[in-house]
Amino acid sequence: MASDGPIHKSVSRILHGGDYNPDQWLHMPEIIDEDFRLMPLSRCQTFSVGIFAWTALEPEEGKYTFDWLDRIMDRLAKDGHHAILATPSGARPAWMAQKYPEVLRCGPNRERNLFGARHNHCPSSPQYRRLVTAMNTELATRYGKHPATILWHLSNEYGGECHCPLCQDSFRIWLKARYRNDLDRLNKAWYNAFWSHTYTDWSQVESPAPHGEHGTHCHNLDWKRFVTQQCLDFIRMESAPLKAHAPGVPITTNLMGFYTGLDYWKFMDDLDLATWDNYPSWHQPGAEERTACWIAMAHDLNRSLKAGRPFLMMESSPGPTNWQPVGRLRRPGMHRLASLQSVAHGSDGVLYFQWRKSRGASEKFHGAVVDHLGNEKGRMFQEVAGTGDTLLKIKSVIGQRTDAQVAMVYDWENRWAIDDARGPRNDGEKKYLEDVVAHYHGFWRQGIACDVIDQSRPLDAYKVVVAPMSYMLRPGFAERVEAFVKKGGTLVMTYLSGIVDESDLCFLGGWPGPLRPVLGIWAEEIDSLYKDDVQSLTWGKNPLGQKGTHGVHTFADLIHAETAQVMATYDKDFYAGRPAVTVNAYGQGQAWYLAARTGRDFLDAFYLGMAKQLDLSRAVPGELPAGVSATTRGEGADRHLFVMNFNAEPAKVDIGKGQVDLESGEKVSGVATIPGLGCRVFKAG
Ligand code: GLA
Ligand code: ZN
Repeated sequence: MASDGPIHKSVSRILHGGDYNPDQWLHMPEIIDEDFRLMPLSRCQTFSVGIFAWTALEPEEGKYTFDWLDRIMDRLAKDGHHAILATPSGARPAWMAQKYPEVLRCGPNRERNLFGARHNHCPSSPQYRRLVTAMNTELATRYGKHPATILWHLSNEYGGECHCPLCQDSFRIWLKARYRNDLDRLNKAWYNAFWSHTYTDWSQVESPAPHGEHGTHCHNLDWKRFVTQQCLDFIRMESAPLKAHAPGVPITTNLMGFYTGLDYWKFMDDLDLATWDNYPSWHQPGAEERTACWIAMAHDLNRSLKAGRPFLMMESSPGPTNWQPVGRLRRPGMHRLASLQSVAHGSDGVLYFQWRKSRGASEKFHGAVVDHLGNEKGRMFQEVAGTGDTLLKIKSVIGQRTDAQVAMVYDWENRWAIDDARGPRNDGEKKYLEDVVAHYHGFWRQGIACDVIDQSRPLDAYKVVVAPMSYMLRPGFAERVEAFVKKGGTLVMTYLSGIVDESDLCFLGGWPGPLRPVLGIWAEEIDSLYKDDVQSLTWGKNPLGQKGTHGVHTFADLIHAETAQVMATYDKDFYAGRPAVTVNAYGQGQAWYLAARTGRDFLDAFYLGMAKQLDLSRAVPGELPAGVSATTRGEGADRHLFVMNFNAEPAKVDIGKGQVDLESGEKVSGVATIPGLGCRVFKAG
């Protein structure tokens, strides 16, 4: 297993710090002096600067005012800090919107937005691209070799879409390339014979609109694909001057976890590392474990995006956010635990939004390292400083990778298709992402590492591939899955799989389409259950030692076993006795089909049985108590073990022999106590 070095040659610590907006305080220089006094006290050393600073950097077109940023960068370098330098394209100056209205976005109703807010730009606008290129060129030539600079932070949380005339043109150009300039191909792919929607000229094609075409699924899919592509094109445009004038400085942009609007996989060849913004709602009554598992999977996605390379948690909140429904305070320990959870899953940085609370505007009540109080006495400041101390003690983890034997398939295009489909139910209960998380939970609770990949990734490195609700099969996926099982892999698929191709056209000849041979079943019909409907399945004899009866809800496929063996059957209704779980021996491997949605009890037990059957490697030897998770990074003498307790009460965990607590130096063999809302990091010693 390879280990990567730090993200930049001048980095030797786990990055700790966050968004720093001195441009909000230029009229109060004493505040900036105070920032630099407080930075070392908080153990923060990395600051993301310039994210929304365009007006401060260019108050009128072509007039650049970098003097304040020069001073900040020099001070950061002098104090031994790092700068993550942003391009300011996430928000525009008022002068620009006034002078070039085309830089502003149009909504799906074709109305142009007014100036304001942020993330409000047209990605196609030649004027905007020209202005961004000019700004990025200035930044790159001025700061690319600055000793503080370690990383470019492109824009901020790219997202949204623009329906302006320029974007309509770009969409048509993209479609012409996709359909090889053949309108008939597009008509067939979009199934336009339906409702007489056939186009006779390319100029008739537009983006989906609430007051126009919005129910043609492949149209909607292609628009989403285009939005991703247009964003990628923008990323390339933003990166070009940075690469030209500041070679050697890596480039990233802050992603948003499972944000649906963009297929992040498509950006990965153009970014040097994945980074993401993490905002869990901790302390919802009864939901701590659920939240922890969800966030663990999002971290694993970011680790997987660059094929296992460490990522950065680019933002997280030291304290309540201003935008969540309830601004619950982080209980003592939670900040440190949540921060270490990111490192446990592969982050080489714990970064915050934000360093200092704004005095005004919408984020003045958002958590920050430095509160309005303005000194080091705040509770969160002290939690941040304590976390920083821990990060210093565990810095040997930098660059260490995690080898996963299990892959969870979470696919953006599949999600778009599922969410957009009319049927088989339309009450918001399809819940693809939640379903993937429920399967992931079965491994997470056992301390078994998972990668989170999409349908386009290679499968060869894994022992188990779980691809829940693979409604859409993208080109090549079925073939890769088949080859994987043939060579000895274990596959798990579920109800609602293999229904449509990449154009959202149903496979003819029975579901799960091209996966019928490998799964050895034919799925004939899908039953959608009402909340109060009662259905269950009961296990028969099976190789995973599963027993008993388990509730079934939401979806139940009615399937026929062809070459597969029936492992469990439905208990009720007209399909009582029909197969509910099957396994098919195929080549050297096995392919499971879970025909119905069950509770987590079923999935947890199922994956426990599978882990035993396949002897999957786990972070700790024994079973973990509920609400406790464990991960490792590195191997042999470099193996770091993180044990995290998301319960309020302490937990006892058998961590194996010969471990040393990296913070206290205590030698532990066997059972370790993990404090409530605590995390301990061990290394072989
Ligand atoms: C996002 C943005 C930040 C800030 C935070 C607040 O992640 O990137 O600029 O608005 O949300 O939580
Ligand atoms: Zn546009």
